[in-house]
Amino acid sequence: MDIHRFEKGWLVASLALIVLFISTVAYVSAVTGVDMVDDSGGSIDVDNVTEDDRFSDPRVEQVGENEYDVYMVAQQFVFRPGSEPFGPVRVPENSTVNFYITSQDVVHGFQIVGTNVNVMVVPGKVSEITVEFDEPAEYGILCNEYCGSGHAEMGGNVEVVARDEWNTTDGGGS
Ligand code: CUA
Repeated sequence: MDIHRFEKGWLVASLALIVLFISTVAYVSAVTGVDMVDDSGGSIDVDNVTEDDRFSDPRVEQVGENEYDVYMVAQQFVFRPGSEPFGPVRVPENSTVNFYITSQDVVHGFQIVGTNVNVMVVPGKVSEITVEFDEPAEYGILCNEYCGSGHAEMGGNVEVVARDEWNTTDGGGS
């Protein structure tokens, strides 16, 4: 087959571009640690979320001196805990908080406004994210994935409480 040399040139150039694009994406994801939603937090049987030890009783649990695990279920159209009537997620200041979040119906979002926390919550998966809360503050939680008619109202709160207040009202310390 006889290929015109200009055509050959363009073929080589376009192949080189494709290789360049792929290597750029690979390089950036390796260097910056960009992550897709994956199984890092584990999988879960979406039909039996309420049977799962982690999520049968969604809660804030102290796991270290200044470390807390939050097991949260997102569902149309609340975060448990986080939204009313379940009450806000409450943790003391200067704590490390590991969120484990799953959905028992459709895809939701979990964003803590004013922080860089922003993850997708996918049925059958457990999204895991760790946050350091330094100062006492109140943050809003938003769902930012369209999940149905109540999507716009799906929200909640995280309350970061001062230590002295935490110790007297929550019995969190000694
Ligand atoms: Cu949940 Cu939008």
